[in-house]
Amino acid sequence: MTIAEMQQEIIRLKKEKDVCILAHSYQAREILEVADFTGDSYKLSVDAKGVENKNIIMCGVRFMAETCKLLSPDKHVFMPNPHAGCAMADQMDRALISQVKETLPDYTIVAYINTTAELKTICDVCVTSSSAVEICKKIENDKILFIPDCNLGAFVASQVSEKTFKLLSGGCPIHACVNTDDVRKARELYPDAELLVHPECTPDVAAMADYIGSTSGIMNYAIKSDKKEFIIGTEISIAEHLQYMCPDKKFHYLSLKLICPNMKATTLVDLYDCLNGTAGEEIVLDDDTMRDARKCIDEMIRLG
Ligand code: 13P
Ligand code: SF4
Repeated sequence: MTIAEMQQEIIRLKKEKDVCILAHSYQAREILEVADFTGDSYKLSVDAKGVENKNIIMCGVRFMAETCKLLSPDKHVFMPNPHAGCAMADQMDRALISQVKETLPDYTIVAYINTTAELKTICDVCVTSSSAVEICKKIENDKILFIPDCNLGAFVASQVSEKTFKLLSGGCPIHACVNTDDVRKARELYPDAELLVHPECTPDVAAMADYIGSTSGIMNYAIKSDKKEFIIGTEISIAEHLQYMCPDKKFHYLSLKLICPNMKATTLVDLYDCLNGTAGEEIVLDDDTMRDARKCIDEMIRLG
């Protein structure tokens, strides 16, 4: 079967089986092309809330599929490749944060959406990279414990200087491995390009950027900009997608270290097999997790 033939079959099957396909912007182009909704973590959370189909397939990583389930408890939510986790989401668990919480009783716990549903049950509000600054400004408390990403947390703290932030040592190993030498090399190679980075990069890398934003933020900035050349400091798929979307502009990777194996794990074949019922995993969360973790997501949507 060719890629185009498989895509046609997927489109036919999703109608037949009443499935809505959501895909994060880091997914491969052939998956984005058959999805009903695409975008960053925040947009997908909002889109997932309005889905009318009986079934949802989330092409992304596990915490995104869990978020879909929390927002659509009556729907069947599947992930095509159950091995697609998120290295950051798996760094901190409920036991660790419960301990920290005891030492900081008057702090509001803000959880980046890249956390497990289990951890969300003991947090107060979720944020995504595109909503974090706005939500942290709106939280009534001026003391915030921001988990798990200390790079995103440091970026948010710099934008919300009126509040006190406590950060823990965690973050995305993919974005965090880009360093200032990588930036200097890219700037030398492409002196006319603007540097756009994700706030999961380290503060010293972010300080050298022309723009800091979520995956959608980076894409919108590059699409709307009058500039013709960009260095993209997030997962390499974004530069690739932008190159198709804006053929008159030039997009370069900040570093080839910016490849997320988890985001690459889901293939078009996995999606096809998931629709056929021969692959994938249905997300099942117990009632307590559903109730307590959902509060955190609802609060994000209320404040976002
Ligand atoms: P966004 O919030 O920008 O979608 O990013 C999710 C993510 O996993 C980035 O590494
Ligand atoms: Fe998780 Fe980092 Fe991959 Fe995003 S890029 S899914 S934060 S490991």
